[in-house]
Amino acid sequence: MNAISNAALADRAIAVTGAARGIGAGIVEAVLEAGGRAVLLDLDADAAAETARRLDSDGSRTLAVAADVTDDASLDRAVAAARERFGRLQGWVNNAGIIRMAQAQDITADAWDLELAVNSRGVLLGSQAAYRAFAGKGGAIVNVASNAGKVGFPSMAAYNASKAAVINLTRSLAQEWAGEAINVNAVCPGSVATPMLHEVADALAKSGAGDAAALFAGMVPAQLGRHVEPLEIGRIVAFLLSDAAIVIRGQAINADGGDTPY
Ligand SMILES: NC(=O)c1ccc[n+]([C@@H]2O[C@H](COP(=O)([O-])OP(=O)(O)OC[C@H]3O[C@@H](n4cnc5c(N)ncnc54)[C@H](O)[C@@H]3O)[C@@H](O)[C@H]2O)c1
Repeated sequence: MNAISNAALADRAIAVTGAARGIGAGIVEAVLEAGGRAVLLDLDADAAAETARRLDSDGSRTLAVAADVTDDASLDRAVAAARERFGRLQGWVNNAGIIRMAQAQDITADAWDLELAVNSRGVLLGSQAAYRAFAGKGGAIVNVASNAGKVGFPSMAAYNASKAAVINLTRSLAQEWAGEAINVNAVCPGSVATPMLHEVADALAKSGAGDAAALFAGMVPAQLGRHVEPLEIGRIVAFLLSDAAIVIRGQAINADGGDTPY
């Protein structure tokens, strides 16, 4: 028995949306570490290909594909490319997301619709693509929600609502698809050192809250005393994709350094 066949995701093909950078790239790294193969889906196909090269220098265990999670047809094209390369998919991570900071009274209908389209509808469309890609033989889906979907932070009403929808959708999908051997869970990160967290600090700085670098440095969970790293979220996601997590179903697990107690 070689080392790979002992690994939790031995040779399983796992699709990760929003995989070009940040948490998505951390999830790809953890999937490879666990012996899996990764399909990197992102709006930015060049950045996804660059991340694939960084994590898998000979390209034998990764495939980077352009995809927009708000567009069914683009997800189907990505799945077709993945199946041609790796065969049936056995795991899917709905990670792609966006944030648009605005006070509640200033959120436009268009901004609300865009945030919900990517963060919530994108998770439904991604999960449906996964359902088809599992080809009736089961698999595991992990949705990247947020502690914002439980707690709710100021100037993020649309984001908060979009992530609450993901948490609830996770429960529905877990119940409806249990009979098809599909396990569905969500992870709720917080304070992860990524470009998105910099975007939040920059937006707060623009609204007069202080210096962007100082704001970013201050966004650390009190119990942990530092930012959470993308690979740390990735390893939790890789566990939830594995058979060892089979008794964890429909859950939304906090991974925010202890900030959210429920
Ligand atoms: N950073 C944090 O502290 C934090 C906390 C909680 C939850 N999250 C969630 O984790 C996920 C990843 O966040 P991140 O911080 O790595 O963000 P990021 O902005 O650094 O990376 C997001 C990636 O998603 C891609 N993307 C955006 N829209 C897309 C679309 N329509 N289709 C395909 N790809 C698309 C982007 O191109 C980018 O590569 C998001 O769902 C986010 O809401 C992040």
